[in-house]
Amino acid sequence: MTDDAPIRIAVIGSGPAGFYAAGHLLSAKDRDIEVDMIERLPTPWGLVRSGVAPDHPKIKSVTRVYEKTAAHARFRYYGNVELGRDVDREDLLAHYHAVIYATGAPGDRPLGIPGEDLRGSWPATDFVGWYNGHPDNRDLDFDLSCERAVVIGNGNVALDVARMLTLSHRELRLTDTANHALEGLEGSAVSEVVVVGRRGPAQAAFTNPELLELGEMEDVDVIVDAQELERALQVPDESMDPTAERNVKVLRQYAARAPRGRSRRIVLRFLLSPAELVDDGQGAVSGVVLQRNELVADERGMLRAQTTGQTETLSAGLVLRAIGYRGRPLPGVPFDESRAVIANEGGRVVDPDGTRCRGEYAVGWIKRGPTGVIGTNKKDAQETVDAVLADIDAGMLHEPESPDADSVQEMLEQRQGDLVSYEGWSEIDRHERALGEPAGRPRVKLTDIEQMLRIAAAEQPADEPLDTLGLR
Ligand SMILES: Cc1cc2nc3c(=O)[nH]c(=O)nc-3n(C[C@H](O)[C@H](O)[C@H](O)COP(=O)(O)OP(=O)(O)OC[C@H]3O[C@@H](n4cnc5c(N)ncnc54)[C@H](O)[C@@H]3O)c2cc1C
Ligand SMILES: NC(=O)c1ccc[n+]([C@@H]2O[C@H](COP(=O)([O-])OP(=O)(O)OC[C@H]3O[C@@H](n4cnc5c(N)ncnc54)[C@H](OP(=O)(O)O)[C@@H]3O)[C@@H](O)[C@H]2O)c1
Repeated sequence: MTDDAPIRIAVIGSGPAGFYAAGHLLSAKDRDIEVDMIERLPTPWGLVRSGVAPDHPKIKSVTRVYEKTAAHARFRYYGNVELGRDVDREDLLAHYHAVIYATGAPGDRPLGIPGEDLRGSWPATDFVGWYNGHPDNRDLDFDLSCERAVVIGNGNVALDVARMLTLSHRELRLTDTANHALEGLEGSAVSEVVVVGRRGPAQAAFTNPELLELGEMEDVDVIVDAQELERALQVPDESMDPTAERNVKVLRQYAARAPRGRSRRIVLRFLLSPAELVDDGQGAVSGVVLQRNELVADERGMLRAQTTGQTETLSAGLVLRAIGYRGRPLPGVPFDESRAVIANEGGRVVDPDGTRCRGEYAVGWIKRGPTGVIGTNKKDAQETVDAVLADIDAGMLHEPESPDADSVQEMLEQRQGDLVSYEGWSEIDRHERALGEPAGRPRVKLTDIEQMLRIAAAEQPADEPLDTLGLR
């Protein structure tokens, strides 16, 4: 590295963590840093596009911050390039002084109970990807002909999927829900969604606005059994924070409310663990056997769920497991299987023997696991970028063989004939917004990679015929 040559850094993944890391790097004072972002999809933003619920458009406006980063003169975007498919770790280390892995946690966690693989039993990750138009999930076939769905888990993803199953047609039609999902959800017979937590209301991972929002839905009654709620609150939780206290208050209000005869219900249940999914005899799920729990403090005072030995069975034709996402290893990059994250210390990637992998860093969900809201990744990215900057100062970055920007461009063009530039993504963005506009929707998402590539290459006009829904 010569004194006047820029430091070239690759960020792999264009979700919040990748964009915050890029933003911090590009705004570092008195540094000549160039950032190339590599993203497996033609479209950026990670879970802001494919995770955040369609009825939360305000949250998605965080992308304006990322757009500013993308407009930086020292930033380049390479969409439709996957680490592990088009390039590998060695390619990156041959061209960059540092590589920051920001690939998120796209996998799901299994429950490990009998019947989990029956038809009609799905990880929430699939359902979320389906309604959000992720190209990997667009062809999934959700049978919504049953009356009751059960959602396992007491986190915000459980509330997202419960809401998506019960929003009214009017509410749904204002969103950017993928068209295939809009059609599926509008034809749905699901009238009751039971959200099941293995512990109590004080231990639920819901945040207050998300829990409150259920009570504001147009055509939904929220049902909480007062006796079950109070039973689950009998054991005091010393670690209860203000969010949990407010959640309990809101749940008590729901329990005191008389149902208003709405067409759909969300039922919040506690102290129940799924023990088995029931087979209808033809390989499809017809119910869930739930074990009743009580709360017991472990040696650290944490309240854990312990079975009482009693069970109950709920009939259901759809079961969504919203018990958390899971990181996936990247070829050749050290992975901590027990935590399902890239092995790292404060963002610096380390080998299993604890040796630093010079020039390699991690950020976001693949660094710390699948928890935290969008903003959490900003602070997390600062920690990783601080480590990069300290390593630059200490002369501890990696020395690549071909650090010049043109050689990377050449390599990527050779590996992937359909590179999508930031301008290409902007074409897709304009096209999607134009499709949504006549129906008052934020956008109509493209879900087919080939079509995205055509639009990105400006091969298809943006004025395709539309019906009133913006459905094509
Ligand atoms: C369903 C759901 C809803 C959520 N809703 C909210 C919300 O409303 N508000 C909120 O504040 N937070 C929300 N969150 C949390 C928030 O989305 C996360 O904190 C955040 O997205 C994590 O950022 P990340 O960049 O680590 O991962 P991601 O957002 O997952 O981004 C990872 C990116 O890496 C790309 N990638 C993966 N592998 C490769 C590869 N091999 N090569 C190249 N690219 C690759 C992916 O395509 C993706 O674009 C939600 C999370 C989920 C799961
Ligand atoms: N609107 C928003 O802001 C929004 C929306 C979606 C997601 N997010 C964020 O994204 C992150 C991920 O959300 P998430 O809902 O996937 O995860 P989460 O918040 O970690 O919640 C996971 C839930 O699954 C339960 N669980 C885990 N293993 C289980 C098992 N074997 N059996 C039964 N239940 C089990 C957990 O219960 P225990 O507590 O008992 O382990 C917990 O209630 C969170 O930080 C969340 O806040 C935010």
